[in-house]
Amino acid sequence: MRKILVVNSKGGCGKTTVATNLAVALAMRGEDVALADADRQKSSLSWAKRRPKSLVRIEALNWTKEEAIGDKDKALDAIVIDGPGGLRSELAKTLIAEASDIIVPVLASAFDWDATLKFLDGISDVKRVRKGKADIHVVANRINRRSTQVADLEKTFAKKGYPLLARISDRVLYARHAAAGSGIFDYQDTRAHEIRGQWHPLLQAVDV
Ligand SMILES: Nc1ncnc2c1ncn2[C@@H]1O[C@H](COP(=O)(O)OP(=O)(O)OP(=O)(O)O)[C@@H](O)[C@H]1O
Ligand SMILES: [Mg+2]
Repeated sequence: MRKILVVNSKGGCGKTTVATNLAVALAMRGEDVALADADRQKSSLSWAKRRPKSLVRIEALNWTKEEAIGDKDKALDAIVIDGPGGLRSELAKTLIAEASDIIVPVLASAFDWDATLKFLDGISDVKRVRKGKADIHVVANRINRRSTQVADLEKTFAKKGYPLLARISDRVLYARHAAAGSGIFDYQDTRAHEIRGQWHPLLQAVDV
């Protein structure tokens, strides 16, 4: 059973978007997947409540309290965790220590970079202290095709030892799916083919 943690102390970078779409992608591949919400805002839990019954089933778990972690996870193939805001809480430290993969979304906007780099160093410290073995994957989110910022982002993060694994475009489609309790992998429409392709490096990385 893999525990895939999506986390960044920077708000609004796409944690819930990445967690929900990843959970759908794994479920559509036939895996038994749960989506655990460890963020006090409980956005992933409300997404799961909106999810139509006709779509592939994703179990939702409330992990906003540390005592709840680990409940009925043994039988599952994977748990995707919408992570808490910071690193300081015991909840965050436990999740980082137990994760098999840690996904850190970062926006193309340079305002987000310093905070995210600091956060990545913080994760590495927690991992060292707790002897965690997780792989860290940095994903650039809300990339605008016409912007050159992703190249700067790429360079800055690679220099610090955190190369970008995937680049996800800024598309209104994501907001639409968020509102409908669905994800881009729920449907096989050809229009979103290229958008789904952007997730392949990430899907490969979290594969067993
Ligand atoms: N690739 C994208 N393209 C377009 N909109 C996006 C994309 N990723 C995220 N968004 C939108 O940006 C907003 C923030 O995304 P999201 O809620 O996933 O971030 P978050 O990190 O979970 O935020 P919070 O810190 O509040 O939990 C949402 O309105 C979401 O629909
Ligand atoms: Mg969120």
